Amino acid sequence: MHGACRPSSMTHYFDTVIIGSGLAGLRAAIAASRHGSVGVLTKLYPTRSHSTAAQGGIAAALGNEEPDSPEWHFYDTVKGSDYLGDQDAIEVMCGDAVRTVVELEHMGVPFSRTGEGRIAQRRFGGHTKGFGAAPVRRACYSADRTGHAILFALYEQSELQGVRFFPEFHVLEIVIQEGRCLGVVALEIETGEIHRFNARATLVASGGFGRLFKTTSNALASTGDCLSILFNAGVPLEDMEFFQFHPTGLYGLGILVTEGARGEGGVLVNGRGERFMERYAPVIKDLAPRDLVARAIMIEIREGRGVEGKDYVHLDLRGIDRRVLMERLPEIVTFINTYLGIDPSESPVPVLPTAHYAMGGIPTDMDGRVLIDEGGAVVEGLFAAGECACVSVHGANRLGCNSLLDTVVFGRRAGRTIGGFLKTAERAEMPGGAVERARDVVESLLARGGEERVGALRKELQEAMMQRCSLFRDEQGLKGLLQRIRQLKERAGRMAVDDRGRRFNTELLEAVEFGHLLNLAEVVALSALQRRESRGVHYREDFPERDDTDWLKHTFAFRRGEGIEFRYRPVTITRFQPLERRY
Ligand code: FUM
Repeated sequence: MHGACRPSSMTHYFDTVIIGSGLAGLRAAIAASRHGSVGVLTKLYPTRSHSTAAQGGIAAALGNEEPDSPEWHFYDTVKGSDYLGDQDAIEVMCGDAVRTVVELEHMGVPFSRTGEGRIAQRRFGGHTKGFGAAPVRRACYSADRTGHAILFALYEQSELQGVRFFPEFHVLEIVIQEGRCLGVVALEIETGEIHRFNARATLVASGGFGRLFKTTSNALASTGDCLSILFNAGVPLEDMEFFQFHPTGLYGLGILVTEGARGEGGVLVNGRGERFMERYAPVIKDLAPRDLVARAIMIEIREGRGVEGKDYVHLDLRGIDRRVLMERLPEIVTFINTYLGIDPSESPVPVLPTAHYAMGGIPTDMDGRVLIDEGGAVVEGLFAAGECACVSVHGANRLGCNSLLDTVVFGRRAGRTIGGFLKTAERAEMPGGAVERARDVVESLLARGGEERVGALRKELQEAMMQRCSLFRDEQGLKGLLQRIRQLKERAGRMAVDDRGRRFNTELLEAVEFGHLLNLAEVVALSALQRRESRGVHYREDFPERDDTDWLKHTFAFRRGEGIEFRYRPVTITRFQPLERRY
């Protein structure tokens, strides 16, 4: 079929449509399927969702290996968030963690076991006992394939519940009319056909957007399409300046080496052979939260203490018994061997921080309802959960293992809330204009000529974001970045695709994704420019202190024509007053 020929569209009707088949989407699907039909759209195959890459664990104060409590978990998460997390939501998440893990076990997740047959637990960054006294074993894991193990169990359960899957469907529009979401328009990648999914409830669980940065642990698909689509449709984005870098990406590749490696006894070492984390976090050292560890690594490198004066440090796993390494961390042993040709039981591993996780996203309440403003008004029929959503339980910095927990706890809550919503929600027909708009996005790209190509433009964007908006930021750099983004937008207008076919046109879809990345880059950079303080992962060299007087608040960014308007919302503080963070 050629570009000039406009294909037909197909229409589907569901009670609930879910975008994304990672852990949040699947857990929500299972819950919502008790209340009506559910269709799940994914631009991949369900079991290839990025959740499968989560390695180290899911946090829950089971206390299987040593005493622990949900209250300590609550405290650690608030402190880890640099006090920007909403404490009512954090309490809900940590309070539901034990039940969640037991439920996952009953659904068939093959967790690793202690000698007595209980779910095994290991240490992870920022998780402590006794309100910060020492690291605690709180991460429940399935070797270093925890996300993979949970994803497969949830996928099986979803199939059992009769959830209908639409793999390789690329969402082009989320239709909101007069404050109400009516469903989704998507392109079937195999045929190039446009499909209209009418839904009484729509849940967005489409994951993150780490592909904004040059070095990332995120899958190619993590381009934030739905955040960008909703932003353009008038939904605000919350706390977008907070993007987390995981301390240990494989040098030169960004592939994740789980924090579980340090939980099992691995240590970070600089070019002088020093365990430098002893200086930055004297109590919990290598198991400090990610923002502190990633920044410490970069400081070591900037001050000339990288290994051989280069831009990496070593993760030394040689202190871990080889049997333990092979039993609990087999995947990363293989990665390290395959990609770097290193046996980690014999040689230290070169690592550098890698873009990993967006704390910000689509604002929601604790039951997944999407907020349309900073005052708490909601979009009827629209829900979000998982990394794309901002509840906000992670604030300015997420603790490792709290992401899988967030997806399952808030995915389930959103699915149950949808159940209640469906009791009274009427079906409304999607307007024809929505399909036309989506079709035009595709047709205009197929028809357009121009000298720019998506691969080169994307590379420039990712490099610019990495240089000016990653672990260290300042006003001059951010202003330069915004100028660069505007130039890239202008050049994107001259971007053409060479493949004019419709079947599996990945070049076309990459061009669509690039538009979304550009849109999000602007929100991230502008949000970072507005926030004139340092908090969690957002470190402004020109404002190096946290400023609770002026900035203990959430950013809400709204699209206004070509510009962006900022408003703010207070942080919910119930139990723990903001203190200086010491580890
Ligand atoms: O280090 C890791 O295994 C990553 C876990 C997470 O992001 O929660």
